[in-house]
Amino acid sequence: MSNELQNIKNRFGIIGNFPALNRALEKAIQVAPTDISVLVIGESGVGKEFIPKIIHAESKRKHQPYIVVNCGAIPEGTIDSELFGHEKGAFTGATATRKGYFEVADGGTIFLDEVGELPLQTQVRLLRVLESGEFMKVGSSQVQKTNVRIVAATNVNMMKAIHDGRFREDLFYRLNTVQIDMPPLRERKGDIHLLFRKFAIDFAEKYRMPELELDPSAVHYIENYTFPGNVRQLRNLVEQMTVVERNRNITVEKLAEYIPMETHLPMVVNNPNTPKQNDFASEREIMYKILFDMRSDINDLKSLTSELIKNRGAADLSHQEKNLINRIYTPESQQTVNSNSLLYFENNNPVQTPTIISNSEDHYEDVEDIEVEENQPESLSLQNNEKDLIIKALEKHKGRRNKAADELGISQRTLYRKIKQYNLEE
Ligand SMILES: Nc1ncnc2c1ncn2[C@@H]1O[C@H](COP(=O)(O)OP(=O)(O)OP(=O)(O)O)[C@@H](O)[C@H]1O
Ligand SMILES: [Mg+2]
Repeated sequence: MSNELQNIKNRFGIIGNFPALNRALEKAIQVAPTDISVLVIGESGVGKEFIPKIIHAESKRKHQPYIVVNCGAIPEGTIDSELFGHEKGAFTGATATRKGYFEVADGGTIFLDEVGELPLQTQVRLLRVLESGEFMKVGSSQVQKTNVRIVAATNVNMMKAIHDGRFREDLFYRLNTVQIDMPPLRERKGDIHLLFRKFAIDFAEKYRMPELELDPSAVHYIENYTFPGNVRQLRNLVEQMTVVERNRNITVEKLAEYIPMETHLPMVVNNPNTPKQNDFASEREIMYKILFDMRSDINDLKSLTSELIKNRGAADLSHQEKNLINRIYTPESQQTVNSNSLLYFENNNPVQTPTIISNSEDHYEDVEDIEVEENQPESLSLQNNEKDLIIKALEKHKGRRNKAADELGISQRTLYRKIKQYNLEE
């Protein structure tokens, strides 16, 4: 790795050695001294914001203004005025002439974040200023000049936006003179543990706590997680665990409580038809979806085992099979490692689950007393009862979900999910 690259990483606190990340950073360093427009492409949370900072800091414009504009956060009605300024009286409320970012940043750099969100009429103005350096304030017919370098970023599929008529093709090619791709975290597994350690140190210092450490099995687990929210998600995870976890050595079981292992997250995130996934609420939605999917997988597994028990008869099951079945029904935390014991468990979902009960506790010999209950699909009346109970609890506690969840003996998360499931948001 070149000294220059290492320098940049140190200066900006960028962690990682993955070739695609290095290439992206090197490209930024390389184009920085020019005035070429750069488009940074990458999923949410991959670190796109480092690129315009590097480009500005390594350019001759570094002592001039650097302005970040989040195009997705400015209302459509005011974005032209924010970017290009307005004349007094241009619209209701325009009591004085105002300079826009393109005037203020003259000589410097503007970072247009979430550029895919720009309204079409603003795209026309932007194309003009990119091509000729010319713009007009809103409500003015006087052409002004500016000299601004543009770096733009997007996490949306621009080709699709162009195809759908939401983004001008000519503007795309003008912005995209040089494209820098930031790789998702799941494609740079080797960087995950490095980043974990960096964030563990940062947050240990911030919260004055000892540093978190990953158990070797947890390292393997975390390196194989898909990280739909990329580095931002990893950073939030480490922050949360730093504050919440008492034990500083994070085991794979502990980690699994925070990041359930599954594989279809990227599809949820990359689907251009789904709303943007980069806020906490949608992360939570994704988590609920995973939990739902996991639950239905477990239910499938349970029906299969129940069929096995019915077809073969409990008495004919081998020791190994009985143990396996019990492991399906018993939470891992309650399982013992004694392979000779058949776990006694109380079935807390009697309708849905076939039950193998060994009343006399731990001994395999007693397993002959196995009882098999019919496996029935979740009945509608059960759902109705559940719904009624939830409504009653919410009414009783005047909509306060924490109290209602306590009363129902379920977690707030479960209550939240059920409220959604039964459309009880009102
Ligand atoms: N390689 C890295 N080393 C250290 N921190 C990183 C790295 N990549 C990202 N981060 C951190 O992760 C967080 C998210 O990065 P950033 O804000 O640049 O994401 P983004 O790609 O702009 O996402 P979005 O599209 O959602 O705006 C930031 O706190 C950033 O500092
Ligand atoms: Mg960003």
